[in-house]
Amino acid sequence: MSNVIAVYTATGNSLSIAKHIKNAEIHFVEDFLNGRYTLPESIDKLGIVFPVYCFGIPYPIERFIRDYLGERNNSGIGYIYAIATHSGFPATALADLETELTNIGCALSYGASVKMPRAYLPLKRKAVGEIETLAALNKVQNRIEHIADDIENEVIAIPSRGIGRRFFRKLSREANKPREVALEVTGRCTGCAICTHICPMDNITIEGGKARINDRCISCFACYHRCPENAVSWPKAEGQYKGLAETKELYRR
Ligand SMILES: Cc1cc2nc3c(=O)[nH]c(=O)nc-3n(C[C@H](O)[C@H](O)[C@H](O)COP(=O)(O)O)c2cc1C
Ligand code: SF4
Ligand code: SF4
Repeated sequence: MSNVIAVYTATGNSLSIAKHIKNAEIHFVEDFLNGRYTLPESIDKLGIVFPVYCFGIPYPIERFIRDYLGERNNSGIGYIYAIATHSGFPATALADLETELTNIGCALSYGASVKMPRAYLPLKRKAVGEIETLAALNKVQNRIEHIADDIENEVIAIPSRGIGRRFFRKLSREANKPREVALEVTGRCTGCAICTHICPMDNITIEGGKARINDRCISCFACYHRCPENAVSWPKAEGQYKGLAETKELYRR
């Protein structure tokens, strides 16, 4: 029984959820796109696990569907499932994912969302601490197990289309485009290059012994939360979310 998960994660929440799915082989969407991993022609299950970004799907997931799955024959995939992690407002992200899949001739058989500790800082500027993280996880433990069982049993549960889908889709597509953002590298940077390994957009370079954030950022906050020197700053933001994965597990390169 082959079960492959394509995961996009920045701060580790989605990776931690993917690990709960039984007998699954997990690969970053970036590995598919960069040719480091090739999906076998025929597999029993394909999972897509990702965070909700600005009410919709993150740019790397859009690319995975359009530029990777969309370029191959997917008739050998038996069951496609998706899990969206979010911090309280999943909006119509799963329905958007279903639309993207339908556009390339694939069908989503199962979709579920899970509320996770918040990793996004621009709205509430203080990062969640350890106690808040544990409390948030306790609340969803049963739900995660339930989702894992559903997937093992190939339950069919197609996400509902939701109200305001077109509005959210337009908004999220625009908001999730890579761009220059207000993240800055401060004088605390030691040039250790950890952020260059974890950035999902390969958007950080080391110049003159210091990190430089370039102009293709998707505001995922991985560099902010994972810098060992807390050297990446965002206006008025405080603290780092330590997340649910080891920093090394988030290395893309
Ligand atoms: C750019 C960005 C936009 C986000 N937008 C939403 C949103 O619209 N609704 C929501 O509930 N959570 C939102 N979040 C929170 C993430 O979905 C949530 O923290 C997720 O679990 C992070 O997953 P990861 O750790 O796998 O990257 C957003 C996070 C980021 C970084
Ligand atoms: S992880 Fe932090 S200290 Fe290391 S290079 Fe990046 S910004 Fe600098
Ligand atoms: S520069 Fe930082 S916030 Fe922007 S995409 Fe890379 S890791 Fe994410």
